[in-house]
Amino acid sequence: MKTSAAQPSNTGFPHRHLLGIEGLKPAEITLLLDLAESYVEQNRQPDKKRAVLRGRTLINLFFETSTRTRTSFELAAKRMGADVINISVGDSAIKKGETLLDTAMTLNAMHPDVLVVRTPFSGAVNLLSQKVNGAVVNAGDGSHEHPTQALLDALTIRRRLGRLQGLTVAICGDISHSRVARSNVHLLNTMGARVRVVAPPTLLPGPFARLGVECFTDMRKGLEGCDIVMMLRLQSERMQGAYVPSVHEYFRFWGLDYEKLETAKPDALIMHPGPMNRGVEIDSEVADDLGRSLIREQVEMGVAVRMACLDVLTRNLAPANGGAA
Ligand code: CP
Repeated sequence: MKTSAAQPSNTGFPHRHLLGIEGLKPAEITLLLDLAESYVEQNRQPDKKRAVLRGRTLINLFFETSTRTRTSFELAAKRMGADVINISVGDSAIKKGETLLDTAMTLNAMHPDVLVVRTPFSGAVNLLSQKVNGAVVNAGDGSHEHPTQALLDALTIRRRLGRLQGLTVAICGDISHSRVARSNVHLLNTMGARVRVVAPPTLLPGPFARLGVECFTDMRKGLEGCDIVMMLRLQSERMQGAYVPSVHEYFRFWGLDYEKLETAKPDALIMHPGPMNRGVEIDSEVADDLGRSLIREQVEMGVAVRMACLDVLTRNLAPANGGAA
């Protein structure tokens, strides 16, 4: 169980933290997606504010860069009435040699209700969650998991196609270093989709096959008949040495363009968690294809999914007003 120890709860989500998708039950994933649906509508209203998290404090603790995840957690918490503090490595005492755990325990002394943490170290968020009193959300730990990304991807697919069960989803690109791929594999498998991973042999680790996916090194074969094509960025910040001969050659064999997309279903949809590197893993025309690309919708769903996660996790904490009527 990578989510957290089970908690007594009547929310249908018996976890104190959200550390990963691995170990979540289908009903728990469905609960988060259903709740997120209601927040999609709220976010489209002129007045987006509610008081669900009034009195709560959320700290965004980011030791890696982020545009989508950090901003959407901040927006999500503020739209629900929480106070939000953002800390990034550049302006934290980590620069002076403080460890991640000491930083977390220092922040814990200020009684935050939720810590949202992104770190380059796989497993570090799990360790940190054992040292703090509030709920911890994994906003991406190394190449391990990025649970809210998989949830927002699932919501995007479900809204467009009405289901996850029975779909064929091809996750393509730098599988080796991708926490997005891992979380999506766990979620899609749990919800009954067929998952394929497509990558150059150097970026396709053998153990991935044990996660219950079909592995392909030929992109055209990997895309054959699939409903969804999910592209991933080359995570060069996690690479030591060269895993592909050149960006040009990578695009030629594994970059998504209309020619390779021909083997997928005629109405196959395109996804990318961002940030995108146009002309490396995806052709600009494909990325901007309004009829088939879900990339902007994924960003919108990110706010709603994070609202749902914060809602459920804070319901499992002691009341913000100490239980007073
Ligand atoms: N998809 C994603 O995690 O994007 P950011 O790095 O911008 O948060």
